Amino acid sequence: MAKIISIINLKGGVAKTTTTVGLAQVLSTEFNKKVLVIDLDAQTNATTMLIGEEKWLEVNKDKQTIAQLFYEGVYPKSEKIFDINKAILKGVSNIDEVKLVDLLPSSLELIDIQEDVIKAPRGIFSTIRPVDLLGRQLSKVKERYDYILIDCPPNLGVITRNGLKVSDVYIIPTIPDILSTYGIPQIISRVKKYSKELERDIKPLGIVITKYREQSPVHRRTIKKLQEEVDCKVFNTIFKENDSIASAAEYINKSTVRQKWGYGGQVNNFIALAREIIEAME
Ligand SMILES: Nc1ncnc2c1ncn2[C@@H]1O[C@H](COP(=O)(O)OP(=O)(O)OP(=O)(O)O)[C@@H](O)[C@H]1O
Ligand SMILES: [Mg+2]
Repeated sequence: MAKIISIINLKGGVAKTTTTVGLAQVLSTEFNKKVLVIDLDAQTNATTMLIGEEKWLEVNKDKQTIAQLFYEGVYPKSEKIFDINKAILKGVSNIDEVKLVDLLPSSLELIDIQEDVIKAPRGIFSTIRPVDLLGRQLSKVKERYDYILIDCPPNLGVITRNGLKVSDVYIIPTIPDILSTYGIPQIISRVKKYSKELERDIKPLGIVITKYREQSPVHRRTIKKLQEEVDCKVFNTIFKENDSIASAAEYINKSTVRQKWGYGGQVNNFIALAREIIEAME
């Protein structure tokens, strides 16, 4: 059975997408795991990191993206174009040694469609609930994977709740500063409440510290505060602010993950985080 992990934070720009993509790649290269990345964010950052803009334009034109999945869910009488088996792009990545990562891509059109999901008259959802649209499609393919990583937008809206609904656990990347961590207790209590509603346990697996600056007293203090006060483990692996990690967002072909993410221990860090996750889940 696939282990399903949502990557969430209410705050934008805290490295949710970077964490998702880096983890997926080392799960493939170092742990030989079959991974599906689901891009639930209309910003399409995970999608463009993994397939580049040109390929995205092509799949978007063919309407084989998460946006069409939601569109057909909200408009059940619309022409059925979306086919999850076609939409999932196999063996994506611009790194030659990454062989086992597939992608369910997103689309900028999700911006409008998520409004439709929210506003849809209740009658449309008489047989299927708006938070089940992803799960219904995913059930057709999930047993093919060891891990499914869901890169969520920076909110807990209906699209993110679709991701959480199918997840076993979630992880929270955060920059260790005051505003980035402000919403974390909120996230944990809201997901707990949602979990209760669903009668399904969705556990907080851990907080990932990202873009850490050693020389920052605020960063050091905030990590300590998270460790002491928040009802969720903080992973031992910490990602420092690092230019090579930022550069890895660019869609350029490389042979190895180290060539992609840099030689300063960045890949070892993704591996260490993956190991912490695997140990907690398997
Ligand atoms: N450790 C790091 N050091 C330096 N830059 C980083 C690091 N991690 C991520 N970044 C960069 O920070 C920016 C935000 O990261 P990312 O897009 O992964 O965040 P996000 O939480 O997914 O944002 P959003 O909420 O918009 O989806 C990106 O430009 C990314 O390349
Ligand atoms: Mg993102």
